[in-house]
Amino acid sequence: MSILRSGMMAAALTLAMAGIASAEVLRFDLAKTQSCGCCVAYVKRLEARGHVVEARNLPMATLIEMKVASGIPPEMTSCHTSKVAGYTIEGHVPVEDIERLIAEAPDAIGLAVPGMPVGSPGMEYGDSRDAYDVFLIKKDGTTSVFQSYAAVE
Ligand code: CU
Ligand code: CU
Repeated sequence: MSILRSGMMAAALTLAMAGIASAEVLRFDLAKTQSCGCCVAYVKRLEARGHVVEARNLPMATLIEMKVASGIPPEMTSCHTSKVAGYTIEGHVPVEDIERLIAEAPDAIGLAVPGMPVGSPGMEYGDSRDAYDVFLIKKDGTTSVFQSYAAVE
């Protein structure tokens, strides 16, 4: 093999590796309560996307304290709370929205899906879905709609 050809192969390999690196594997630190089944279903959805999740169980009171300390407004709370790439993710937020958040990198606390809407990831109930919004939580505690999902009958 000529030096030129092996050099081109090395360049192609470097490009291929850069392509793999751009599909970034995210590391989630997810806090939940022991008895929450929908949290486990949500973790499986993140893992199915190729991300890594470290889930730990906290007493409910400690989990609520952690939400408050993380800056999640009371009306935005759900069951589990995740930390990823410097953001806090509250509840059943679709993984695509988390990936978009990290790509856009706004100066914000993170994302939330308040409550536990039917049809959000980890809250599947057949094929039906309640309409719900994903909210961006800003550093001053205000929120705006980041993504909307329509109801599916
Ligand atoms: Cu839940
Ligand atoms: Cu949960």
